[in-house]
Amino acid sequence: VAGQPPTGVLTGKRVVITAGPTREPIDPVRYISNHSSGKMGYALAAAARDAGAEVVLISGPVAIPAPSGVEVRNVTTAADMLKASSEAVDVGCDLFIASAAVADYRPQSCESDKIKKSSEQMALSLVRNPDTLATIAARADAPFTVGFAAETTDVARYAIDKMQRKKLQMIVANDVSVPGLGFNSDNNAVTVFWPDGQASIGPDSKQRIADRLMALIGEHLDQATG
Ligand code: CTP
Ligand code: CA
Repeated sequence: VAGQPPTGVLTGKRVVITAGPTREPIDPVRYISNHSSGKMGYALAAAARDAGAEVVLISGPVAIPAPSGVEVRNVTTAADMLKASSEAVDVGCDLFIASAAVADYRPQSCESDKIKKSSEQMALSLVRNPDTLATIAARADAPFTVGFAAETTDVARYAIDKMQRKKLQMIVANDVSVPGLGFNSDNNAVTVFWPDGQASIGPDSKQRIADRLMALIGEHLDQATG
């Protein structure tokens, strides 16, 4: 089938994938989050499974079913995502793919009681969240690491900068300013960068893009590990 990764390209490999949004609590009934549907990460998990890998999917709260044959570990916050990812990599991982839309900031504290409204304006104090992808890529035993970069301007420049800064082997860039593609959509178009090359995939369904991405990652993983 066109777009399907060659069967067995990831046989015997352990793959960890992050997907979906994170939720950062403000009080018992409210949180900060984003519109990520998790579809790209779930499609990648299915593609890695089809390519023969053993797959752990670290997922923020999403409304889509788990792909069969994939172990899903549900998380809520960015801190949970880092912990679950680190634990999954600790037991052995050949390939780490970060497709999650992690909240960059969280409320400095989560109120234990529901916040009551009072004045016309209120300010929420936010602090930076840990970066799961950069933390995994910085490990001495780092797996082959692939990141995503959702950008609205200067897509290639920002994506390549992220790949270098976070010490990634590949980055998958998508232009989220294009209507009907990317965030919350069934379709996507991406450009993949690695240190000495690039390739564009799509526009196409997220599952077909995931299958082609996994084939491309498989080729590079082979070159990296021999
Ligand atoms: N990422 C992560 N943990 C974070 C933030 C981002 O693992 N706390 C990962 C994402 O899953 C993605 C990559 O890092 O694979 C890039 O995310 P992105 O939001 O595009 O980049 P940032 O480094 O957060 O930079 P900015 O949002 O300022 O563009
Ligand atoms: Ca970010």
